[in-house]
Amino acid sequence: MCGIVGYVGFQECPLILLDALKRLEYRGYDSAGIAVVHDKKILFHRAVGKLINLEHHLLKHPLKGTIGIGHTRWATHGKPSELNAHPHVVDDIAVVHNGIIENYVALKQEIQQKGIVFSSQTDTEVIAHLIALFIKEGNRFEDAVRKAISRLKGSFALGIICAQQPHKLIAVRKESPLIIGIGDGEYFIASDAPALLPYTKRVYFMNDGEMAILSPDGMELVDFKGNILPFKTTEIPWTPLLAEKAGYKHFMQKEIFEQPRVITDTFRGRFDPETGEINFEEFDLGQIGDLKKIWIVACGTSYHAGLVGKYMLERLCRLPVEVDLGSEFRYRKPIIDRDMLLILISQSGETADTLAAMREGQKKGVKTLGICNVLGSTLARECDFVIYTHAGPEIGVASTKAFTTQLTVLYLLSLYFAAWLQRLSSSEVKQYLYDLMELSSKIEAALSAAEEIEALAPKYAKFKDFLYLGRGLYYPIALEGALKLKEISYIHAEAYAAGEMKHGPIALIDENMPVVVLAPKGDTYEKIRSNMEEVLSRQGKVIAVTEPDCREIAEKAEDVIKVPEIANPFLKTILYTIPLQLLAYYMAVFKGTDVDQPRNLAKSVTVE
Ligand code: M6R
Repeated sequence: MCGIVGYVGFQECPLILLDALKRLEYRGYDSAGIAVVHDKKILFHRAVGKLINLEHHLLKHPLKGTIGIGHTRWATHGKPSELNAHPHVVDDIAVVHNGIIENYVALKQEIQQKGIVFSSQTDTEVIAHLIALFIKEGNRFEDAVRKAISRLKGSFALGIICAQQPHKLIAVRKESPLIIGIGDGEYFIASDAPALLPYTKRVYFMNDGEMAILSPDGMELVDFKGNILPFKTTEIPWTPLLAEKAGYKHFMQKEIFEQPRVITDTFRGRFDPETGEINFEEFDLGQIGDLKKIWIVACGTSYHAGLVGKYMLERLCRLPVEVDLGSEFRYRKPIIDRDMLLILISQSGETADTLAAMREGQKKGVKTLGICNVLGSTLARECDFVIYTHAGPEIGVASTKAFTTQLTVLYLLSLYFAAWLQRLSSSEVKQYLYDLMELSSKIEAALSAAEEIEALAPKYAKFKDFLYLGRGLYYPIALEGALKLKEISYIHAEAYAAGEMKHGPIALIDENMPVVVLAPKGDTYEKIRSNMEEVLSRQGKVIAVTEPDCREIAEKAEDVIKVPEIANPFLKTILYTIPLQLLAYYMAVFKGTDVDQPRNLAKSVTVE
């Protein structure tokens, strides 16, 4: 939700800021802006809409400066407009902000009583006014910032520059992510690592309650009281190429096709197929203690991974598992026992509702395990244990490879617990691990159906509603398929556990309702076949996703998408995900929507 960047050093920075913003555009894209200090003046440009508009503006009216800040916005307070776009500039101060200032109304009234007029409807503008007022009272730049932030309630990552301090960039973090990139005589700030990759891999992940004062001469880190803090830098293992489209039309397409590799990256090195021993370098079971129950909390696609995880953990470990949405968990006042493990799943590691659930659990003294893709993210740092999905940067707003790598981790984790709890013998574990080693080649085979799936798009893109049906492990996969279609093609799609169809949704079925039926071979094949018949007898159009020799399904469906066969039902869920991702992708491409940056969405939802 909003991306912020900043630079201080020896290079002309407007184009560096713009380039860094492009890599963060997935965080918000309704308006953008850049401010620099030049000749002891703040100069800035802002533009509504995508970054390209700001870029055109900058090309016509170039800015100059070796210190600056930038912002790409996902509106929370105030509609997208030039005045509401960041940076917010007041006197000699310019501010970019990611987060929400909860007490901004009270602060705004207090400032207005001094006769000051606001120019935007945002919560952020109060920050710029407060800093400017404290400077007028004679405070140094950094002291004015500290005084201003002591008045703020809510979450904020800030980049701040001051016309009278042309070599000082201030970065502040409270509950919204912020990373400092460290170069030679230059510093960068950004909400997320991909923005920094072309410039430096040496970074410092800021913690809550920290403020950094950056200048070409060095970096000083202080707490909100001004006490100096030590800091340790980290190397980011990702390369700039990983955050490029690499010849694909969209990031989403690239990320779908990367799945065979990143799934292997995720399980590689974590088990020995000979002995069946599974190892997570990040944590060991001894630290978890007595394990009686598991609770999984996540949002969106990660929540769907959690639902699949429930099936895996319950079946393989015979442990009770509950799954909750981040936004529901804490307000429900859940009954949390100390002998349970709270698993939080998040690609970004910055989703506000998931983090709130983590904190709620920690308050109650429960151990937390994060499954996360982004190194150094808040979730990764604050959970007791973390397991990384090695998916590499996921830039497309619609999550794809993050989901399947989360399933890979959940599968391995289920085997790990099952072995520990002696629910599976070592030969069973070994067999399950061998199955995993086959998975990437099966995914390659599933991806080879891309052209056939693309050919379906012109026929189906005109429909307004879709139904997705699945049973058991494939119900969450149906949910995920429907979510993908909704978010990038803007077609209304609903998913149902197929057995529930006759309890209501069947009323919707007619010739205008394509129904995607997930019909894997296995326990529920006959049941799902009957559900398909129920749809067909009401003139519904069935797109069946099934395996090559399931002729009874293929003969009756309007269209069939074939998934390669694999006996392991848990890994089969991953294979069934692939065609659903492709179907949503090609429908969106056919409709001409903005696949990587669908309307109203942002990659990481860092506000409640
Ligand atoms: O970064 P997270 O995994 O915590 O994000 C959770 C959801 O916001 C995310 O999965 C969202 O639903 C995606 N747009 C789905 O494609």
